[in-house]
Amino acid sequence: MSKKIVFSGVQPSGDIHIGNYFGAVKQFVDFQDSHECIYSIVDLHAITVWQDPNLLRNNIHEVLSIFLAAGLDPDKNIIFNQSKVSEHSELAWLLGCTARVGWLNRMTQFKDKVGKNKDTASVGLYTYPILMAADILLYKANQVPVGDDQKQHLELARDIAQKFNNDYKVDFFKLPVPIMNKNATRIMSLRDARNKMSKSDVSEFSRIMIKDSNDEIIKKVMKAKTDSMKMPENIDSSMSRPEINNLINIYSVCNNLSKEATIEKFALKNIADFKKDLADVIINTIEPISKNSKKLFKDKSYLDDILKVGAERAKNIASYTIKETKKIIGMM
Ligand code: AMP
Ligand code: TRP
Repeated sequence: MSKKIVFSGVQPSGDIHIGNYFGAVKQFVDFQDSHECIYSIVDLHAITVWQDPNLLRNNIHEVLSIFLAAGLDPDKNIIFNQSKVSEHSELAWLLGCTARVGWLNRMTQFKDKVGKNKDTASVGLYTYPILMAADILLYKANQVPVGDDQKQHLELARDIAQKFNNDYKVDFFKLPVPIMNKNATRIMSLRDARNKMSKSDVSEFSRIMIKDSNDEIIKKVMKAKTDSMKMPENIDSSMSRPEINNLINIYSVCNNLSKEATIEKFALKNIADFKKDLADVIINTIEPISKNSKKLFKDKSYLDDILKVGAERAKNIASYTIKETKKIIGMM
């Protein structure tokens, strides 16, 4: 039986934090032997909000070097940046004629990002989920490793695929499903556990970056907001304490432990002692990735070669899908 197809994307809009790593990149690595995997650095998505051109160029290499340092093998996986394969933009237009305005209007990420400033947001930010659907459907991917914030966008991709198939009476696009890392579906901010850890949070102390030094990691973990009680005894008491619950999740994913096992290990201990162990396991997990990625980042021609080969391999598949889609629509 042929392997299932996996697609996912990461925006080159800033450095990668542990939410991106555990929610997405670590899963990418887990899939690479058992699936046909296509991973894109989605620069077209990044420019839906202003990006400084020099920083964007830099961040494309930055994300790639972290992918590689985390263990993604460029021979096993197709790795490329989205704008090199123009079929992404082309399919986004074709699918934009299938998607409905009402569907886009329900997207909570757009509403959260623009708040009251809807009129000054870019049109690209609004139609962003259609481009995301195009990314996935171009490769007929059925599994999409993502964090929980992308669930609604995946539902939209399914709706678009389904409507296209119905409208043209074909069984052409596959309906993709999100795949999530159990304890890391949503890593929360270290400053305010009501918000997810995010590249755009104003406080640097809200997130741990893959490239943080060990001292920075220790400082951020020790400063992470918590209550002043002892560590929880069971899942129920953990769930009612969102800050500590988030730290327990992070400890669990770093050690590949169940949440129950982590809670049992630290039950009724002091939070400060738990935090010391937490900083250690985070450092053990990300220090090798960080070191390696800093080395890889310097070898621009190696990185560019990977992106070039990846784009050629992606284009091979994508151009075929575009041709078939146009035939179905009646353009050829
Ligand atoms: P982005 O940086 O927005 O392109 O996100 C890249 C991937 O990381 C996506 O699959 C997101 O769902 C995932 N992600 C981003 N933030 C978090 C978070 N705080 N917790 C878990 N996953 C996340
Ligand atoms: N929208 C995703 C994010 O912000 C990135 C992304 C773009 C993506 N295209 C995708 C994720 C396709 C999965 C599949 O995180």
